[in-house]
Amino acid sequence: MEDWSPSSWASKPIKQDVVYGDAAGLQSSLQKLQALPPLVTPQEVVNLKKHLKNVALGKAFVLQGGDCAELFDYCNQDMIEAKVKLLLQMSLVLIWGANRPVVRIARIAGQFAKPRSSPMEVVNGVEMPSFRGDNINGFDATPEERKPDPSRLVSAYFHSASTLNYMRASLSSGLADLHSPLDWGLGHIITPSIKEKYEQIVNRVKDALRFMNTVGIDTDRGFETVEIFTSHEGLLLEYEQSLTRLLKNPHSESARRAAHPPSSTTTSQSYYATSSHFIWIGDRTRQLDGAHVEFFRGITNPIGIKIGPSMTPDELTRLLDVVNPSREIGKVTLISRYGTSKIAQYLPEHIAAVQQSGHLPVWQCDPMHGNTQSTPSGVKTRHFSDILSELRQALEIHRAAGSFLGGMHLELTGEAVTECVGGGEGLTEDRLSERYTTFCDPRLNEKQALELAFLVAGFYREMDDEGGNLV
Ligand code: PEP
Ligand code: CO
Repeated sequence: MEDWSPSSWASKPIKQDVVYGDAAGLQSSLQKLQALPPLVTPQEVVNLKKHLKNVALGKAFVLQGGDCAELFDYCNQDMIEAKVKLLLQMSLVLIWGANRPVVRIARIAGQFAKPRSSPMEVVNGVEMPSFRGDNINGFDATPEERKPDPSRLVSAYFHSASTLNYMRASLSSGLADLHSPLDWGLGHIITPSIKEKYEQIVNRVKDALRFMNTVGIDTDRGFETVEIFTSHEGLLLEYEQSLTRLLKNPHSESARRAAHPPSSTTTSQSYYATSSHFIWIGDRTRQLDGAHVEFFRGITNPIGIKIGPSMTPDELTRLLDVVNPSREIGKVTLISRYGTSKIAQYLPEHIAAVQQSGHLPVWQCDPMHGNTQSTPSGVKTRHFSDILSELRQALEIHRAAGSFLGGMHLELTGEAVTECVGGGEGLTEDRLSERYTTFCDPRLNEKQALELAFLVAGFYREMDDEGGNLV
């Protein structure tokens, strides 16, 4: 790729750009970042890519989730553990339901920067820049706090590193050990028939774990720990560029076996975005001739692209050609987010265009971003039933098209927040203010998220019972 470099994006038109007043401060932050070690390794990135290839081929499922806007303050033991445990529990339910391995990707350790519909806002009669995320400016509503501060880029790196460090350490010390009992907390479900249905699923998952334990298959590495990958929107290209490194590609198993003695001259190198295992392009920054697409086309990592109603089928396939000219299977995850009332109109033509193009991406449904609404009193929320309905339609549309819905992408938290309405607890709009703590979009709380996993697992089971061919 001769005409690409980690900085070639800078000559292209850019959306959602951050303008720093302090040019010297920006340079010094970027220099610091360039000197810091990668947060993830090529081996890990390539492992994820292999898993995502299996997802694209219909052999695995991907669960991606976490905060809309991560804050530096979320870098603490309780919140990290709650999120990791929630993703683990959801994945167990989905493994049972979809009868496939589940690849877990968290929106964590770097999910700070947010695209905004307007760069400025008026608070209490004062105009100031909008909050763009903890790695850009402060949330406090004063013009001073809202000024983009380049030292936040370096803070973002260290908060990501601490979060990732604690995730790695706690996973390798048994946080996700399937021998320890998990708290499934179903006490809140108010409808007895729903509660009973979930209890049945939990019992089946527990039975399966007990069986493996009795037979001794759980002594393999893998039962004591699980893999969780990190991800974020690759919005801030200065940051991503500073952490993009030309690194040795890991030897594949076959190459390792063939090379006796191992030869260093055969090792090739590629550019890796080392801020995270997986980064995605948002719906607002995916212009074909834009800076973000230019940056993303050069990195080796698996990447995501958000697609919504404004994407045309032709643009979609041209975009796939640009970011994945060699048509690597599963390199690109298409994260569809149309909204429950629009998915039936747009998804079929997007699937058809991609099928004709010969690309084989991972298809993932984000049932959150097309379903945001405001309550009469102006609070941003999402209805559990809309989220579920978009997911169900995605599953059915893919199945009818001979395609495979490879996963879901959710905004969720391990905390007991009240931001989305509905679910088994029957959360209503008048209770939203109880614990509404998001700094951007409304997230599913831990109970709603787990419940969604139960319901999606149930859809898969239903389709299997109907003898449906999922692939
Ligand atoms: C997000 O995932 O938080 C987001 C901003 O999504 P989208 O780009 O789909 O609007
Ligand atoms: Co969001």
